[in-house]
Amino acid sequence: MTSAEDLQTLVLTTLDKGGHIHDSKDLTALDGQPLDQLNLLGVLNSLKSRDMVDYDTIDREIWVLTDEGRDLADTGSHEARVFSAVPPGDDGIAIAELQNLLGEAAKIGQGKAFKNRWINKKGTTHLVRTVESIVDQTQVDLREIRDTQTHKDAKVLVELKKRKLVDKRKIISYKITKSSNFSLTIEKQATDITFEMLQTGEWKTASFKKYNFDAVGLAPQGGHLHPLMKVREEFRHIFFEMGFEEMPTNKFVESSFWNFDALFQPQQHPARDSHDTFFLKDPATSDRFPADLAEKVKRTHENGGDTTSTGYNYRWKREEAEKLILRTHTTAVSSYMLYKLAQEEFRPAKYFSIDRVFRNESVDATHLAEFHQVEGVIADRGLTLGDLIGFMDVFFKKMGRGHSPELSDHVLTHHFPYSAGIERIRFKPAYNPYTEPSMEIFSYHPVRGTPLLPLGLKQWVEIGNSGMFRPEMLIPLGLPPDVRVIAWGLGLERPTMIKYGISNIRDLLGHKVNLAMIKDYPICRFDKKMGRELVGVVQDGENVVEEAREKLEKVTVVN
Ligand code: PHE
Repeated sequence: MTSAEDLQTLVLTTLDKGGHIHDSKDLTALDGQPLDQLNLLGVLNSLKSRDMVDYDTIDREIWVLTDEGRDLADTGSHEARVFSAVPPGDDGIAIAELQNLLGEAAKIGQGKAFKNRWINKKGTTHLVRTVESIVDQTQVDLREIRDTQTHKDAKVLVELKKRKLVDKRKIISYKITKSSNFSLTIEKQATDITFEMLQTGEWKTASFKKYNFDAVGLAPQGGHLHPLMKVREEFRHIFFEMGFEEMPTNKFVESSFWNFDALFQPQQHPARDSHDTFFLKDPATSDRFPADLAEKVKRTHENGGDTTSTGYNYRWKREEAEKLILRTHTTAVSSYMLYKLAQEEFRPAKYFSIDRVFRNESVDATHLAEFHQVEGVIADRGLTLGDLIGFMDVFFKKMGRGHSPELSDHVLTHHFPYSAGIERIRFKPAYNPYTEPSMEIFSYHPVRGTPLLPLGLKQWVEIGNSGMFRPEMLIPLGLPPDVRVIAWGLGLERPTMIKYGISNIRDLLGHKVNLAMIKDYPICRFDKKMGRELVGVVQDGENVVEEAREKLEKVTVVN
């Protein structure tokens, strides 16, 4: 095979001498062989990208002989062979003998020779000639096709193709002309601007390779959602479907003010200790919170301020509130958003966020120092604890049924064992500095497994915390006194780990995570079995439920 460089030289020197190449099929390589037109195309494209040549494609159909056709072109057609085998005179030849002499050719040849009226039958067993001499037209036609790659009579081509003696081929060649940058030598083109080129100024005169917009790009390696983000997407859909707006949670660093003080969390509360919270060293503080709000918060903490509360009866210190921390909960964002809402004319609002929070905990197989919270807030006049309970009911049912509301309970529990639809939830009184009443949320699924609670666990598991924000929090923020706010926080890791069958949290988050698994995991649908149902791995769900249950036992609630 001729190398690309040789081909380039051949094209350029031929163009230089003749001005153009009428048809590249007439070019012969240095070794005298015809050129491979596909190799030539590569060379032409490269020269064209430098504007050295231009080319047009020439499409042609040619006819070629098959192996058998080639044989007959050399030695004569079957019918001519039959004619030669029949001796002149009245005796002729026995059909059986002809068969012996010519084999296969005898059968095909006899038919044609009869049709051409070259031979006739004598009795039932013999053949005799009917003419003295013949012209082997088939051989003549085949030779014409061999030499000219076509035949003037299209009918002949059709007939010979039927006899499988010739075949049609498409061939492509090129008409090549010089272009604006034609030259005998190829200038090396730069593909990138380098540091040296910038330094020496060479970039001003350098010749750059043209950008090839037709090139097929490499498939990107990245761009896959992490399992946590896949489950987050599924939660987001439910929130959006229920008319919630997403809160901006893109700040991991918060002042203690928004994370604790604005939430009526006293400054000596143990959660504000460095054993529980990560404090920033540099910068260690920020005073970027509204001064008038800080004043109201201070008075509320000290003596109840504008509320009917007596407060905590201690001296509130601004320096404590200024301490920067990694937010310990996304409720820090909720407090800021409620303040913003109160600044405008109050309107009922539904907010949610799903993002990362940080707690200074020792790390083990089920604990990380950071995790994700699913946070929700509803503000309106006349809300009660009943609304919070009612919301939870609808929300958790939607996790399983949201995408297929037409499914009955029976179908859901028996045919969608991995549905996260939680049919039963319960609440337990709890304590939060910023909510009253406060309720921990527990769930139980008695029939089949769900990502949040697989079958067999047969116990109530805590899945979140909730409550009604206290007036001591809402009144300083500036909300009208008759506005009630219900709120909750759930974990994102637990449903994700169960949904994807991950038992060690370090396989899910952090530097030990296997990137390939991120790429390979299916998208999350709460009402689907992660594609297992499609490949038939899960028939009745038992095995995987059992597996998930074992794994779940090792997972403790981080929320
Ligand atoms: N902030 C709480 C937590 O971190 C969750 C919560 C949010 C509780 C809102 C009540 C109201 O667990």
